[in-house]
Amino acid sequence: MTQHTLIRGGLVLTAAEEIRADVLIDGERIAAVAAPDVAEGWARGGARIIDASECYVIPGGVDAHTHMEMPFGGTVASDTFETGTRAAAWGGTTTIVDFAVQKIGAGLRETLDDWHAKAEGNCAIDYAFHLILADVNDRTLAELPGLVDEGVSSFKLFMAYPGALYSDDGRILRAMQRCASTGALPMMHAENGIAIDVLVQQALAARRTDPRFHGSTRPALLEAEAVYRAIALARVAGAPLYVVHVSAQEAVEELTRARDLGLNVFGETCPQYLFLSAADLARPDFEGAKYVCSTPLRAEEHQGALWRGLRTNDLSVVSTDHCPFCFAGQKELGRGDFSRIPNGLPGVEHRMDLLHQAVLDGHIGLRRWIELACVTPARMFGLYPRKGALFPGSDADVVIYDPHARHELSVRTHHMNVDYSAYEGRVVTGRARTVLSRGRVVVDDGVYTGVAGHGRYRRRDTCGYLL
Ligand code: URP
Ligand code: ZN
Ligand code: ZN
Repeated sequence: MTQHTLIRGGLVLTAAEEIRADVLIDGERIAAVAAPDVAEGWARGGARIIDASECYVIPGGVDAHTHMEMPFGGTVASDTFETGTRAAAWGGTTTIVDFAVQKIGAGLRETLDDWHAKAEGNCAIDYAFHLILADVNDRTLAELPGLVDEGVSSFKLFMAYPGALYSDDGRILRAMQRCASTGALPMMHAENGIAIDVLVQQALAARRTDPRFHGSTRPALLEAEAVYRAIALARVAGAPLYVVHVSAQEAVEELTRARDLGLNVFGETCPQYLFLSAADLARPDFEGAKYVCSTPLRAEEHQGALWRGLRTNDLSVVSTDHCPFCFAGQKELGRGDFSRIPNGLPGVEHRMDLLHQAVLDGHIGLRRWIELACVTPARMFGLYPRKGALFPGSDADVVIYDPHARHELSVRTHHMNVDYSAYEGRVVTGRARTVLSRGRVVVDDGVYTGVAGHGRYRRRDTCGYLL
C-alpha cells in the first residue's frame, strides 16, 4: 500500500508563486498541490498529516557543486558521502551534484565507476555527478558522449593548478568542442593558474607564507582574464559555458558583457563570497587557513557586485563548493607555506539558511531565493522538474521551512564532519524544520530520521537552461 502524506497549512513558495496550498504526496512523488478546502478530503482519506502552519513549503535545495571525499593536495576532503549528504539534509538540501575527479592517465569510465563506489549505499539524499576532466586527450574525449548517456552531462575544466588539474587552452577548446557536439555543459574554474604560480613562487621566495598571501597571489584580474578567455574559447567552440565559484567584481563584469551579447554563459557564486571576505583570510595565528579556497575570498567591496549579479541573473546559481578540510592535520599542512593549505571550505549545511538571511537583509527576494537555490540549479543540470519543483510528478523532495527560527551557526551544532565553522557565531533567522527526500522524512524537528543508502543516483538530462 502506498503511503500518502499531506503537508497542510503552509505557504507554498516556488520561483513563480507564493500560494496558500496543501501538498499531497503519494509514495515518492508529489501527487497534487491544491487549495486547502480541496485538500480536506485527502486528510479524511487517512493521509499522514504534516502541519506546516507558520512555515514555507519549498522544493528541497539543489546544491550543484560539492566535493565529498575529494582528494586534494595530498589529503582528502573530510566529509564522506554519508556525512556530507546527512549534513546537507539537515540544512534543507535534498540533492547534490558532486564531482568525480579524473586522475592523469585514467579513463572517464573508470573515474565515474570509482565515484559510484564511494557514493552508492551511503547517501542520505539523492545525488548526481559532474566529471572533472584533468586529462583531455583523444581517448578521453572519445569516452565523453558515453558518460552523457549515463547522466553525466557537465564537465569541469581547470585553468588553475598547473601540474595537477590544469588544462591548457588547446585542451580546453577540444573539450568544449566535444561538449558542444554532445549537448554537454562545460564548467570552468576560471583563474589564470600559470600567472598565479609565478606570483606564488615570488611570495614564498620573499617569505610571505601566511594564509592571506593565498589571496594576494590570486588577484581579481587573473580571475576576470580567465573568465574572458573561457568565454572566447566557448564561443569559438560553439558551446555554452558555466563559470563556477565566481568571486570578483571584474569577473562578473565579463559575464555581464557576454550575456548582454546574448551568449549562453552562466555564472555561479557561493555563500562564502557573499558573507566572508579577505579579512577572514587575514585572521592571525594561522586561523586564516580556515578560509583558504579558490577562487579566493575577496575584499568586501566585491560583495555588492555579486549581490547585484544575483539580482540581474548575470549570476544564476548559488552552490556551496563544499570541500571541507579539518583545521587540525589538514589545513595545518600549510603552516609556513600557504600554497600547501588544502583549498576548500565547508558549507553544504548552511546555504539555504544564509540565502534566506539574504532575503531578510534585502539582497534578494523570497522567490529569487528558491530560484537560485532550487529551481535554476535543477534546470541548469538536467534534473528539472524531477528536482527543484513541486509539480505533480516531481520527486517529493520538500522542505517545511520555519522562517522565524533564529539559530547560531557553529561547529558545536553543525553536522558536517569538520572541526570548525567558517561562520562561527553568526546568527541567522530561518531553518529547515522538516525535510522530505522522495517522500521519506529525513529530518523532523531537530531529529535525523534518514538512513544512509536512501539517496539514489540520478541520471541527468542535458542542460535545460539555455537562453
Ligand atoms: O577551493 C576550492 N574551491 N576547492 C574545491 C575545488 C574547486 O576548485 O572547486
Ligand atoms: Zn574550482
Ligand atoms: Zn569546487
